[in-house]
Amino acid sequence: MGVSSNESLANLLKEERRFAPPAELAAAANVTAEDYKKAAADRLEFWAAKARRLTWDIAPTETLDWSNPPFAKWFADGKLNVAYNCVDRHVEAGHGDRVALHFEGEPGDSRTVTYAELRDEVSRAANALTELGVKAGDRVAIYLPMIPEAVIAMLACARIGAPHSVVFGGFSADALATRIADADARVVITADGGYRRGKPSALKPAVDEALTRPGTEEVRSVLVVRRTGQETAWTEGRDVWWHDVVPRQSEQHTPQAFDAEHPLFILYTSGTTGKPKGILHTTGGYLTQASYTHHAVFDLKPETDVYWCTADIGWVTGHSYIVYGPLSNGATQVLYEGTPDTPHQGRWWEIIQKYRVSILYTAPTAIRTCMKWGEDVPAKFDLSSLRLLGSVGEPINPEAWIWYRKHIGADRTPIVDTWWQTETGAIMISPLPGVTTTKPGSAQNPLPGISATVIDDEGNEVPNGSGGYLVLTEPWPSMLRTIWGDDQRYLDTYWSRFENRYFAGDGAKKDDDGDIWLLGRVDDVMLVSGHNISTTEVESALVSHPKVAEAAVVGASDPTTGQAIAAFVILRGSATEEEGLAEELRAHVAKELGPIAKPKRILPVAELPKTRSGKIMRRLLRDVAENRQLGDVTTLTDSTVMELIQSKLPAAPSED
Ligand code: WT7
Repeated sequence: MGVSSNESLANLLKEERRFAPPAELAAAANVTAEDYKKAAADRLEFWAAKARRLTWDIAPTETLDWSNPPFAKWFADGKLNVAYNCVDRHVEAGHGDRVALHFEGEPGDSRTVTYAELRDEVSRAANALTELGVKAGDRVAIYLPMIPEAVIAMLACARIGAPHSVVFGGFSADALATRIADADARVVITADGGYRRGKPSALKPAVDEALTRPGTEEVRSVLVVRRTGQETAWTEGRDVWWHDVVPRQSEQHTPQAFDAEHPLFILYTSGTTGKPKGILHTTGGYLTQASYTHHAVFDLKPETDVYWCTADIGWVTGHSYIVYGPLSNGATQVLYEGTPDTPHQGRWWEIIQKYRVSILYTAPTAIRTCMKWGEDVPAKFDLSSLRLLGSVGEPINPEAWIWYRKHIGADRTPIVDTWWQTETGAIMISPLPGVTTTKPGSAQNPLPGISATVIDDEGNEVPNGSGGYLVLTEPWPSMLRTIWGDDQRYLDTYWSRFENRYFAGDGAKKDDDGDIWLLGRVDDVMLVSGHNISTTEVESALVSHPKVAEAAVVGASDPTTGQAIAAFVILRGSATEEEGLAEELRAHVAKELGPIAKPKRILPVAELPKTRSGKIMRRLLRDVAENRQLGDVTTLTDSTVMELIQSKLPAAPSED
């Protein structure tokens, strides 16, 4: 894959673009190279040892049961309570006064929740859910803004063994209804609204509408947090205010131990086609890996670090790296409700300065947006507390990586580019900050205990320097157990393409050192004159030009070359759409990647169509590039973006 790959990699791998771990961090790192050795010597014993980082009511004696692949059981004879592990045990260890959450509301209100307070709140919420009739095994849908109650609600569900299904607060009533129906939820936890771009934005009306849809009849209670105070329609007998039922509960609640394979949560992932898949995660294996990877990859020192993951709890990143990973490790973290540019484009940096954040975990799309706004914005704030930066969600192009390190990390902080999926539950491929010499743009190595490689069409491992498909070759503790209610789809989607291996759907490449570079979804790979070219590589080449902040590339059908490359670019702060720009960019790509990768058309645009989790919707750009009617736009953050892009067409294809 990637005709020009060797040339481009050679370019990206110049010696000066490598960053050794800072000596101080390496000397005190939570995890050293020792873990790679231990895991290589005995992978299952390695994970059994990591499971012992948790507190079990009954310690497991079995590690992995793989007798019925791909249906895994990890630590199956062990029992534990996830909420106890994330909250109570820290209080019992004498850390009740430690801050768990520094909540920052978008309007500027703030609230501090210590571990002792979190234990009381989670216990009260667990008692309230029990009063509402929720029993172990009942599903609870959570549709909340980024407020402390979101974390409390998830932990309360975990505490009583009721699997939660968190639905992103930006999703419509339709999306919510489908998810409530598929999981057959009994209770919905929501809020009147949340603050978004300086205004209260209602949530409860979407719940009311969703509950008129078929399949949602089993919902007997809607528990509503008052966040905005806006007027809220009420269904007597069904709706209850959080403030009416939760505070009056006892703060005593004895956590019950659940089987390691008890369902912990369902999280729906939409993918590109078909109905959303309910990804099922269970208790002991999930928590083991979420907790260990958070400890290893973010090097968290719970006494001194302030950690901030900017994801929403509606995504798996929020589950594993806001709730379960950090809290199981006793972290102090920031929880922010709003958007990065409300009321100004420096809001995130202001928050880092205010709370002395030391570890920041965010997405490439956010980094590129900040690049577009310009480096003078973060420069106005004191970011000296930062010591480690993370990236997740998409390939981070080397230019954005370098910008992140330089303008946010003062050219000092390591960056961990973490590859994983909703399905994997926790980080799988990433540098270790105290061990790995990082290469901008590469996620590099499978973590200790994880087996991943790159294979070709026939399923053979590719040699270093070549590309193909990313696969996981051994089961891992936080792997999805199935698709909720659809074992066959689980088999078909992930385990049928290659025998005995999990196919992630991503293209990847191994460089000459064997380090892994992610190349995006294989559905996005372009075929130009018989050559496979990855969208990620061309996008990275474009963004490495000083005038380009962001780029999205698609293959549009072409009578002569099969597919021709069309590039949509957002220009950086001061750059303008002057004459000759397209030619300049095409020449730049040709220089970086070779003439075959040169885009046939270049279209400067103001915005790109993105899903609510920040992924570019290349499907819609292909529709535009092929002059087709637009497909489904309902999952776009902003549907006007496509109108703007289309209004720029038809642009005459440039001559080659
Ligand atoms: C897909 C999974 C993992 C939490 C957020 C997304 C892409 C994710 C990286 C990375 C390159 C990445 C992959 C993957 N992806 N992280 N560091 N480098 N690509 O979860 O919505 O389930 O998406 O996101 O394509 O398959 P998700």
